[in-house]
Parts: sequence; structure tokens; C-alpha cells
Amino acid sequence: MSKVHVFDHPLIQHKLSVLRDKSTSVKEFREIISEISMLMCYEATRDLPVEEIQVETPVDTATCYQIAGKKLAIVPILRAGLGMVDGMVTLMPNVKVGHLGLFRDPETLEPVKYYFKMPQDISERDVIVVDPMLATGGSAVAAVTFLKEAGARHIKLMDIIAAPEGVEAMQKAHPDVDIYVAALDDHLNEHGYIVPGLGDAGDRIFGTK
Ligand code: PRP
Ligand code: URA
Repeated sequence: MSKVHVFDHPLIQHKLSVLRDKSTSVKEFREIISEISMLMCYEATRDLPVEEIQVETPVDTATCYQIAGKKLAIVPILRAGLGMVDGMVTLMPNVKVGHLGLFRDPETLEPVKYYFKMPQDISERDVIVVDPMLATGGSAVAAVTFLKEAGARHIKLMDIIAAPEGVEAMQKAHPDVDIYVAALDDHLNEHGYIVPGLGDAGDRIFGTK
């Protein structure tokens, strides 16, 4: 069974309160999604392997560490996942970015794929799938399935807010994928929205409603 990591860091929790507030402007919402993503990325990459290197300082030789092992890719689920990319790229300037376009059919709540463009060597990379919301889990489950079909093997999922229903669906479909969230909310409403949640993440990032 995969692990669910809930980040209770005070900075993340403070910023999340601003995101949830319905009076937060599009500008501030975008900025805070990006800041939370950077902070979450810092925590979610804590287990990256490092190797020892020797660095010549102006004074002596220092034993230092650099990231070792497999290369990383981040894969935002369009649209809302795009809002999380900048913050992560700030921390990892050379990270490769794949794009996966999915939207949730408003009637059936089933994910519909419209775009898939991954780095060529995706099967050799550790992948972090990013999307602000894990609701029914349909989008995340489908995203991970498409990535596995493309050869990706080591995958993590990073969401800002998750509903218990989405976590359960992911753990059932992909027990090998650990989940990183800033908050685990109460339930889904009859329209598949997370309660209390923050509303429609894509609309709030892009100002489409
Ligand atoms: C939202 C969100 C997730 C999905 C979560 O995207 O960004 O991708 O819903 O819901 P689920 O867990 O029930 O699948 P949406 O379909 O609204 O598309 P958008 O990002 O283009 O607005
Ligand atoms: N997608 C969103 O953007 N918000 C929700 O609450 C559920 C799905």
C-alpha cells in the first residue's frame, strides 16, 4: 500500500488558508499555488539519493554532496497542474517537464485525455505527477496509467488538496505510487467538488470563471 504524506509545515498551512479563501484574487492565487508547490517539492524530494564529491574551496577541500542516481521529470495534469510547474522549476532548474492534458467530463466525472507529450527518456526518469486537486481520483489514476504505459516506473503524485475518495481510488489502482498532499479534506459533494476544498483550481488559476 502506498504512503500518504500530509505536509503540516506552518508555511504551507498558512498559504493554504489564503488559497481556500474565496476572496483571494487570481494574481494572489497563482502566486500562492506556485509558492506552495515549491515548498511541497522541497519535502517530496527529501529522499533523492546523493553522492559524495570533493569541492575545492578558497581555503581547503570540502566533502560535499550532489544529487545522484536517476533523473527527474515532473508531469503537470493540464490545466490546473500547470500552475504548480514554476515553483518546482525554481528549485530544480534542469528538470524535464512532460504535459498531460485531461479534463473531467462534468456529467460522468470521467477523465478525457486530449494531450500527451513526455520527455523521450521518460522510462529512465523518476516522475512526479502534479495537480492541485485529487477529487474522485479519476484524473490521477488515468494519468499514472498513461505514464506506466509510456514506460515510467517510479512515480509520485503531488496534490495540494485531496479527498479521501481520491486517495482510496489511487491506492487501489496504483499501490506503488506515494501521495504527497498539503491537506486531506472531508468529502466530495454531489458535483464531485472537494469539501471544503478551494473550488475549481483551474478556473481560479486562469481566471476563467
Ligand atoms: C480538475 C483538477 C484535476 C481533476 C480532479 O481538473 O485539476 O485534474 O479536476 O478531479 P478528479 O480527481 O475527480 O479526476 P479539471 O477536470 O477541472 O480540468 P482543468 O484543470 O482543465 O480545469
Ligand atoms: N477539481 C477542482 O478543481 N476542484 C475540486 O474541488 C474537484 C475537482
